[in-house]
Amino acid sequence: MPGRPTMNPYTRHIFICTGSYCDPQGLTEALYARLPRLLGALGHYENPRRVKRGTAACLGVCSGGPLVVVYPEGIWYHHVDESVLERIVREHLEQNRPVEEYIFHRLG
Ligand code: FES
Repeated sequence: MPGRPTMNPYTRHIFICTGSYCDPQGLTEALYARLPRLLGALGHYENPRRVKRGTAACLGVCSGGPLVVVYPEGIWYHHVDESVLERIVREHLEQNRPVEEYIFHRLG
């Protein structure tokens, strides 16, 4: 049996949908590219509060994008531009205060 992969600790995972239905203008690539700098120390492998980031080809909503979802809370954001993404990082990920006016769904 091949060896098991390992996982550094993390607390949250942020996903951006890159699908063309909710991002017809192709804005999400630039948004995703900004995340490492916005996350700063929160994105570092050795940080126990680390926030992992990823893209998804479709998150099953397909409108109102760019769409972002943060787990484990399952908080979904719509119409995320650069300023909203910055607020999600500063307010939600750093200060545990979700950006209420852009939330359209919460898990559970
Ligand atoms: S294309 Fe973004 S949710 Fe389906």
